[in-house]
Amino acid sequence: MKLGVFDSGIGGEAVAAALRHTFPSAAIHTVNDRAHVPYGNKSPREVIRLTNAAIQPLLAEKSDVIILACNTATALAIEWLRDRYPTQKFIGIEPMIKTAASLTKNKIIAVCATPATLTSNRYAELVRTYGADLCIIEPDCNQWAYRIENNQLNHAHVKQIIDDACHQGADVIVLGCTHYHWIKELVIILAAGRATVIEPSEAIGRRVEQLLQLR
Ligand code: DGL
Repeated sequence: MKLGVFDSGIGGEAVAAALRHTFPSAAIHTVNDRAHVPYGNKSPREVIRLTNAAIQPLLAEKSDVIILACNTATALAIEWLRDRYPTQKFIGIEPMIKTAASLTKNKIIAVCATPATLTSNRYAELVRTYGADLCIIEPDCNQWAYRIENNQLNHAHVKQIIDDACHQGADVIVLGCTHYHWIKELVIILAAGRATVIEPSEAIGRRVEQLLQLR
């Protein structure tokens, strides 16, 4: 099985690591576009253009599935890509609003994601479908992807964001950008005893199994 994984940067490595664990014998090829990180502050048009250019090697080698391990590219480009390459299977990643809705006790959640994801139509649709009765806090994380990519993340800033969200009553924190998977342990520690932290790495493996009918 050949899996292609794309992210603007190191978020894809976090997802690929989880996929390697689930599918040890799969050939997993990761591509990224570090020259253009962050995608999350770019226009939809630009994200489509860059994503399309970056995934060409994965299309050329006929990946069984291309995983857009990037919430931003999924939000802005997956529909365009599915139209453009109708015979290619794609899996995208989106903020886990549905799971958060099933976990929250006090109906307050926080979604940490890029500005492009949070302002996308797909995200608005997710919220309408699964989060209509929730209070959703969307903290300003717009520097996080760039800083994580460049190893410049300020832990005090992350602490402040997580503390604020918890003070406002969030009991579930959704990591809606794959770059943030690299700081999951930190966020878990910061939110300990107050909020559950979720991200979709495991769910992606299940989705691959479903799509390729492996079980
Ligand atoms: N890792 C990407 C995501 O999941 C975004 C990073 C970026 O802004 O480039 O949204």
